[in-house]
Amino acid sequence: METKLIRLTEDDVETEQGQEALREAGEIIRKGGLVAFPTETVYGLGGDALNPESSRKIYAAKGRPSDNPLIVHIAEMEMLSSIVEEIPAKAKQLADRFWPGPLTMIFNKSDKVPLETTGGLQTVAVRMPSDKVAMAFIKAADGYIAAPSANTSGRPSPTVAKYVAEDLDGKIEMILDGGQLCIGLESTIVDMTVEPPMILRPGYITKEMLEEVLGEVAVDKTLLDPTSKTAPKAPGMKYRHYAPKGELTIVDGESAKVVDWINAHAKEALEKGQKVGIICTDETKALYPQGVKKSVGNRQNEETVARELYRVLREFDDEGMEVMYSESFAESGIGVAIMNRLLKAAGHHVEHI
Ligand code: TXA
Ligand code: MG
Repeated sequence: METKLIRLTEDDVETEQGQEALREAGEIIRKGGLVAFPTETVYGLGGDALNPESSRKIYAAKGRPSDNPLIVHIAEMEMLSSIVEEIPAKAKQLADRFWPGPLTMIFNKSDKVPLETTGGLQTVAVRMPSDKVAMAFIKAADGYIAAPSANTSGRPSPTVAKYVAEDLDGKIEMILDGGQLCIGLESTIVDMTVEPPMILRPGYITKEMLEEVLGEVAVDKTLLDPTSKTAPKAPGMKYRHYAPKGELTIVDGESAKVVDWINAHAKEALEKGQKVGIICTDETKALYPQGVKKSVGNRQNEETVARELYRVLREFDDEGMEVMYSESFAESGIGVAIMNRLLKAAGHHVEHI
C-alpha cells in the first residue's frame, strides 16, 4: 500500500488545504483504514475505535501483541458518556482540570466499545489530546480514534513524522506530519475504576498535580519495584518497550563521578572496537572527549529532556551504537516519567557509583 504523507501543522488546520486533508483522513478512518497523526505527547496510529476490524489492523501494522489495549481518543467531553459505563465524580474533576491534555483515564467500558480495541478487557482507556491537529482529525473522523503510539512495537515512540514513516511506511494509508511534538513522552495513565485512583504509567501530569485535585492517589507498585513478579495493571508496561538495539547502561551518582566513570568505560569499549554512544546533557556535553555524545537537553529544564529522549535513542539505533551510557535524572516532576522510560530502555541496568 502507498502511504500518503501530508504536512499538517496547527497553523494549517483552518486553511482550505488543511480542511481537505482532514476530510480525506476522516474518510480513510470511516472506511476502516489507518492514519498516523500528531498529538502533544507522541505520534498516534489512529483507526476507528468502534470498528473491531480497524483495531485488528492497528495491531498488525505495529506488530503489537493483541492483549495490549489501545487508548480511545476523543475531542469533546460529550463523547465520553456513551463509551463508558459511568463517569466517576473524580474523573469529572480530572477532566475539568487536565483535558484536553496528556492524561489518559481508565473507565469501565460500555458495550459500544469492541473487545478488540480494549485487548479483551472490560475497561477502556480514554484521552482527550490538546494538539489542534489531533482534535480536528478526531472530529473529522466522527469522534472515536483508537491510537497507540505510531511505532513498531518495541521501538521508541515517534516524536517526529520521519520516524513514523520509518516504522509504518507502506503499512497504513496516511501520515499527518505535524512537525516536532512538544512533550515527547506518552500520556500519564490513571485507573479511575479503583479507589484511590491509581497511576499506571507516569507522564507529564505528575502524581503531585493529580493529588492537588484528588487528594490521595496510588501508584501501581510494579512501577516502583522492577523486580516485582506481579503483572503491571497497564498490560503494555510489561513489555520491554522503548528498547534500543544496543546495550544501554544508566549511570547514577554525583555528576563529576558519573562523567569519570562513563569516560573510563567508553575508552575501554572503544578499545575493543565497539561503537559507543553517550546520552548526556547540555551541562556536561563538553566533558566527554570520546564516543558519540548526544545531549538530551538541559537539566535546568527537564521538559527539554522529555522532548528529546526518544529522538536520541532512535538516532543511536540508526547509527548502530553497540554500547550506550546515559546520565541519570532526578525522580521528581517530569523526571519520574523520564526515568521510567529510560529504565525500561536500559532493561533496568543501572550502575550506582
Ligand atoms: O500519549 C499517549 O498516550 C499516546 C498518544 C498517541 O496518545 N498513546 C500511547 O498509546 O502511548 P500506547 O498504546 O503506546 O500505550 C497505551 C498504554 C499501554 O501500556 C496499554 O497497556 C495501556 O495504555 N492501556 C490501554 N487500555 C488500558 C486498560 N483498559 N487498562 C489498563 N491499561 C490500559
Ligand atoms: Mg506505545
